[in-house]
This record gives sequence, C-alpha cells and structure tokens, in this order.
Amino acid sequence: MNGQLDWDIKTEALKSKPSVRILALESSCDETAAAVVENGRRIVSNVIFSQVDVHALYGGVVPEIASRAHVDACDRVIDRALAQAGMSLSNVDALAVTYGPGLVGALLTGISCMKGLSFATGLPLIAVNHIEGHVSANYLTTPTLTPPFLCLVASGGHSHLVRVEDYGVYTLLGQTVDDAAGEAFDKGARVLGLPYPGGPQLSKLAETGDDTAFPLPRPHPEGKYDFSFSGLKTAFINTCHKLIQQGQSLPRADLAASYQRAIVDSLCEKTLLALRDSGLHTLCLAGGVSANQLLRSRMRALAERDGFTLCLPDVGLCTDNAAMIGSAAYYRLLRGEVAALTLNAVPSLPLL
Ligand code: KG4
Ligand code: ZN
Repeated sequence: MNGQLDWDIKTEALKSKPSVRILALESSCDETAAAVVENGRRIVSNVIFSQVDVHALYGGVVPEIASRAHVDACDRVIDRALAQAGMSLSNVDALAVTYGPGLVGALLTGISCMKGLSFATGLPLIAVNHIEGHVSANYLTTPTLTPPFLCLVASGGHSHLVRVEDYGVYTLLGQTVDDAAGEAFDKGARVLGLPYPGGPQLSKLAETGDDTAFPLPRPHPEGKYDFSFSGLKTAFINTCHKLIQQGQSLPRADLAASYQRAIVDSLCEKTLLALRDSGLHTLCLAGGVSANQLLRSRMRALAERDGFTLCLPDVGLCTDNAAMIGSAAYYRLLRGEVAALTLNAVPSLPLL
C-alpha cells in the first residue's frame, strides 16, 4: 500500500502538470457511469449505463438489484470511457469515485472497483461527495464559472440552497424540511399512473395541461430559505382521490401542470430570496430536477428581469453522471485530498 508521503509527492507533481486527466466512476444510485475529465473542466469521454428499465418494473430503485447491476457494469463502463477517450490507464493521472451520499451497496461496488484500480496502478484515488459532483457539473458546462456563487441543488434525494464560497467550501443556506423536489415529482407521477422515474414523464404530460386548473398550496416552512414539499404532495394526492371518489376520470395533464407549477414556484421563490440576501450575482442550478424545462425557463426569465448571471448544466449533466465527479475530484486533487485504501461508503454523507 502507498504511504501518505508517496501520495503527497505524486499529487504535488500533478499540480504543476498542464493537463491532468481523471478517470471517474459514479455508482451511488441506479446509474453506472464512467468519464475522463481534463483539468476539471473538459469532458474527454462520458459513458452512462442506466438501470432504469430494470427498476421501472418495481416502480422505484431496488437497492440490492442496483448493487448487482453495478457489479456487472463497472468494468465495461470504465473500458468504454477509456476507449471513447482514446486512452489506456497509462494516460490517466488520477482516479475518482463517489463515496456518498447514496445507497450503501451501490456506493461500495464503485468504491471497491476504484480502490482495486488504484492499488493495481498506483494512481491516486480521490473520494467525491455526490452533491459536490452535481454542483461541479456547472464547471463543465460553463468553463468560465468561478466561485463565489449560489447553487440550487434539486435532485431525487436533495433540495439544497448552497453558497459556494470557493472550490470545496460551502455554506448551506437552506434545505427541504421533508421531501426532496425530485421525490415530490416522482410521487406525484406515480399517482398519475406514470412509470418510474416520474419527474421527466410528469413534466412531459404537463406540456399540454392548464397549470391554473387546480389550486395547490405553496408551503412556507419556518426557515427563510427552506423548502417543503410534503404538504403539497398530500394536497395533490387528496385532489386526485377526491376526483376518483366522485367517479370522474383524472384530467391528468391539468393535474400534472398544476403540480409542476407549484413545485417550480416554491423552488424559484426561495432561491430568489436567498440570492437577493446573499449579495451574489451568479446562480447555478444542479441535480436531476434542474433538467426540468419549466424550472429552466422560469429561472432564465428571472435572470433577465433581475440582471443576475444564470448557469444551467447541459440537460445530460443534470442527472447522475461521472463527468461531474471527475470535475469535483480535480479541485480536491489540487488541495491534496487523496483517499486512503481504507475508504468506505458514507450513505448519508452531508455536503458540509
Ligand atoms: O440527480 P439525480 O439524477 O439523482 C439523485 O441524485 O437523486 O435526480 C433524479 C431526480 C428524480 O427524482 C427525477 O424524477 C428528477 O430528478 N428529474 C426530473 C426531471 N429529470 C429528472 N424532475 C422533473 N423534471 C425533469 N425533467
Ligand atoms: Zn444525483
């Protein structure tokens, strides 16, 4: 095993290299993804193997099935990422892997795979926080972006308002007090009979609906910058049940549009409040829900009206991918943060 001194010498040498290429692996939930990223900003290759078809049969992610599917896919996805980059492991400078938050078995699969590669090749391994990865997707899409900025992270497991002070330096301004925004999308979609993952499907259905058809609440939790989606979700479910009890067929598009608008209203309201109070002039979005077209267009309109800079990750980089992990890893590498081979999964790892 390499000692800390060896790693320090290696990472010190890497810091002065003009081109640092990181091979990253992401396996925290139901996507097995590998990517090669140069200097934290340029995607050299990006491969995503989605398990969504398998989990759709069960209406959600089945952790044990996810772990097994990662075991099957890890090697192939890494091989494909290297082939797409036209590289072999000898062209790679460092390795990166997500170590939390996420499903413990899924995380452990990726961690074991990358620890094995690190041990075999002698390449330094960098452990990355999945949420930090989502934030870092913005460095790939907007190469001129530098901290400080405000970031709304809205995914299946998180709804965070984060002040990014510097690379790797975060202040949590607000978060959901109950469900995450993506969870609210997915649960609403299930009530409308849409398959997993429901967010994109509900959003598509909403395109043809009237978003004023059903009055739904905009919950206001105590924390000034906190979100709450549980009450809204219950109100939506009750509205659907009432219609069914009355023997009516569900006006699904109108329901989807009204519900989507309520979620997006809440996200926009709190984000704008935090941005104004923060004195920052740049807002980034991150996480699966930032692929939502209504959220993107509403934020664009607000940016134009209020004159702040808005960064939106490419839609393909909003949901889980390994390129974002490779970007975050680069800045950890510059700070000399190399993981030991005792690295373990931390399923409920916080960002701070
Ligand atoms: O970031 P992500 O891929 O995984 C987590 O880290 O959780 O986010 C997945 C979440 C799911 O809840 C999914 O329904 C939601 O993001 N999502 C969307 C859209 N695309 C993905 N929600 C609304 N509209 C979309 N277009
Ligand atoms: Zn994610």
